[in-house]
Amino acid sequence: MTLQEKSYDRAYFDRWYRDPETRVKSAGSIRRKSALALSTAEYYLERPVKSVLDVGCGEGNWLSCLRKVRPSIQYTGIDASPYAVERFGKKRNLRLGSFASLESCVLKKSYDLIICSDTLFYLPVEELEMGLVSLARRTGGIAFLELYTGGDSLIGDFPQEGLQTASFYRQLLRRHGFILVGSHCYLGPELKDHAMEMERIS
Ligand SMILES: C[S@@+](CC[C@H](N)C(=O)[O-])C[C@H]1O[C@@H](n2cnc3c(N)ncnc32)[C@H](O)[C@@H]1O
Repeated sequence: MTLQEKSYDRAYFDRWYRDPETRVKSAGSIRRKSALALSTAEYYLERPVKSVLDVGCGEGNWLSCLRKVRPSIQYTGIDASPYAVERFGKKRNLRLGSFASLESCVLKKSYDLIICSDTLFYLPVEELEMGLVSLARRTGGIAFLELYTGGDSLIGDFPQEGLQTASFYRQLLRRHGFILVGSHCYLGPELKDHAMEMERIS
């Protein structure tokens, strides 16, 4: 089943995020990822992060973690789930949209931090290519692009087959100008010369 065929409704989020029997997500794991992404972005920007774009944001659960550290952060979430946007859109600034159609969403020219957490590895390669063009243009600082491969051992709502290899994703991201500086964090083309040689992971 592809990501688009699945229903990201309330039952989905209850199952994987809330029900103590079945959930695989925790507030702690989002808090740790958010701390990692924020501090990596600020290390390279040499200032606090002001703006964040979260694509495939789900219910916008990153927002409270980001605001705990940076209370005035401007956060925009894009997600393809009508349920998530209807329920949390106004409160958390979430908009309906997809990775493939980012150019038709009303977005800023640049964001200090771009997040795509737990979403990209389900997408068809053509959609990935389209979305990465938009994101590369808008990454003013770093992008947290979380990708799992066929070589990872995964628990939860993951595709059973069809995951790509690490070398496939590395080449794809490099081709779009993203430079890996550790743990799903990539410098965008704008800051590409800011990493020392030993900070780049090739
Ligand atoms: C596993 S959830 C991850 C949510 C959130 N990023 C997190 O880390 O908790 C995957 C999300 O991707 C969204 N999604 C599915 N297809 C998408 C697409 N083509 N473009 C953007 N978002 C999509 C779903 O609606 C769902 O909210």
